[in-house]
Amino acid sequence: MAKISFKPGNMLYPLPVVMVTVADLAGSTNIITVAWAGTVCTNPPMASISVRPSRYSYHMLKETGEFVINLTTSALTHAADYCGVKSGRDVDKWKETRLTPVKSDIVKAPCIAQSPVNIECIVVQTEQLGSHDLFLAKVVAVHADEQYMDEKGGFHLENANPVVYSHGGYYDLGSKVGKFGYSVQRGGHRRSTSGKA
Ligand SMILES: Cc1cc2nc3c(=O)[nH]c(=O)nc-3n(C[C@H](O)[C@H](O)[C@H](O)COP(=O)(O)O)c2cc1C
Repeated sequence: MAKISFKPGNMLYPLPVVMVTVADLAGSTNIITVAWAGTVCTNPPMASISVRPSRYSYHMLKETGEFVINLTTSALTHAADYCGVKSGRDVDKWKETRLTPVKSDIVKAPCIAQSPVNIECIVVQTEQLGSHDLFLAKVVAVHADEQYMDEKGGFHLENANPVVYSHGGYYDLGSKVGKFGYSVQRGGHRRSTSGKA
């Protein structure tokens, strides 16, 4: 299989693209779109975001050490892109996107009402990596929109049409192609690694 070599760079795609909400000590808030975000530990639940010090949101993150990760959906893609190209130095992103801030349970940064999942985080460690600072954080509260719950308590995020970011483009999830552990389940389909059934 012939491959082309790129210079070392970030090619770990697709990624979640999230709207991170932040607040400063005076109570001003902002929204920044982040793709360099990740789940880093199950127990204790921890997440990370990487943010350039030049971002307006950066000083808010440093001041309070708190943020909320708000998941994005197809319907929120326009707002997510806007929050990723405009700065809170110049515009009120809440007003321009018509997103609604809702008081968080624990952190000062608000949740976005229209987002299906809000993850409240408290920073436990910051690392200066180069272009970006890494904020490692403990997850302290999670809010999920009840319209995606079933009667058995199952949460169906797929019904919210989540969006991923891949190499500059936003995409929705498409169809389900498997589920956790299906490759070893009895009666499961065997697929060759060539991708041909
Ligand atoms: C899809 C997308 C992903 C982005 N990911 C990041 C990121 O991971 N870290 C970062 O510092 N900036 C990222 N940005 C850029 C910031 O969101 C952008 O510079 C924004 O205007 C900063 O807002 P602020 O100045 O109000 O904080 C991303 C932008 C887009 C559109």
